[in-house]
Amino acid sequence: MKTLHINLGERSYDIRIAPGILDKAGEEIKKVCPKARRLFVVTDSNVFPLYLTRLANSLTAAGFEMTALTVPAGEHSKCASELANLWEKMLASGLTRTDAVVALGGGVVGDLSGFAAATALRGVDFVQIPTTLLAQVDSSVGGKVAIDLRAGKNLAGCFWQPKLVLMDPDTLNTLSDATFADGMAEVIKYGCIRDKDFFDFLCAHPTRAEIMANIESILYQCCDIKRSVVEEDERDTGARMVLNFGHTIGHAYELSGHYEQWTHGQAVAAGMVTAARLGVTLGVTPPELPGQIEAALAPLGLPTEIPCDSGTYAAAIGRDKKGTGADITLVLLDQMGHAVLRKMPKEQVLDLLV
Ligand code: GLY
Repeated sequence: MKTLHINLGERSYDIRIAPGILDKAGEEIKKVCPKARRLFVVTDSNVFPLYLTRLANSLTAAGFEMTALTVPAGEHSKCASELANLWEKMLASGLTRTDAVVALGGGVVGDLSGFAAATALRGVDFVQIPTTLLAQVDSSVGGKVAIDLRAGKNLAGCFWQPKLVLMDPDTLNTLSDATFADGMAEVIKYGCIRDKDFFDFLCAHPTRAEIMANIESILYQCCDIKRSVVEEDERDTGARMVLNFGHTIGHAYELSGHYEQWTHGQAVAAGMVTAARLGVTLGVTPPELPGQIEAALAPLGLPTEIPCDSGTYAAAIGRDKKGTGADITLVLLDQMGHAVLRKMPKEQVLDLLV
């Protein structure tokens, strides 16, 4: 088992990574939530038939009372009505302030149930058991929880750090290749922003089989990079922005496909290539770097280019009616493995993009 400690003072917690840890969830949760008697497990309609029984067996063997709620799989469950449903069901189950909420699933389940845990009874403990690669390397770590609004994704939420994150790499075996690749976009991002050797390792091990043969150390490496960023800037006021490499432009691609044509990982993949090209134009990024990122993404079937019009870029960058200011902070690479933040006028960025 690999354990990583996230040091955030009284909000500190461990990430534990091990094949089969799903079956030990009960005893692991008991250690961090010693007063909890009842656990409220949230999962989705894809994950429930695969892993809920194993989790339930482990929780009951450890002496917990358990209630499980299954939400429909998909982003549309990250909404206010599903949140309200969770609150009601949590309270109806008898959950108290010393009990805990457990998220079993991907980013939607983690974000939704984390926000419900943060707000029910003015906050109850929360444990993440992420089952997708994207959730294991990104959304389950760092405490961002949220729901989507009509105005945009993740626009109502808060920071609510989990008490524990349990990652069972075996759960990745049931992902489709496309969903696996989605997570790999974020994995490659970590190499780009913080660790050239890690990036080179990923380039040398491009197949899913090679990645899975090294998955424990890959998960550890990604979470360790995120740990260092989150410990420096828990509430995302500066340094944490480096995690958004490829994401602002990626947001334009998600918008251009109405959040249906392109997944988050696909949009981030193409967004990283465009951000690298932008960096070359601005004289920040070495000219060979966009090609290196493309070469890392392509074997996974991730797109390296997505068509986008100027209006969509403008909406994503915030040159719109929201009055979010004239400047934007870009995340650029000044070398492979090192990200820098550059504040620039939005108009200039848009001129360069279109
Ligand atoms: N996913 C970006 C962050 O956690 O800050």
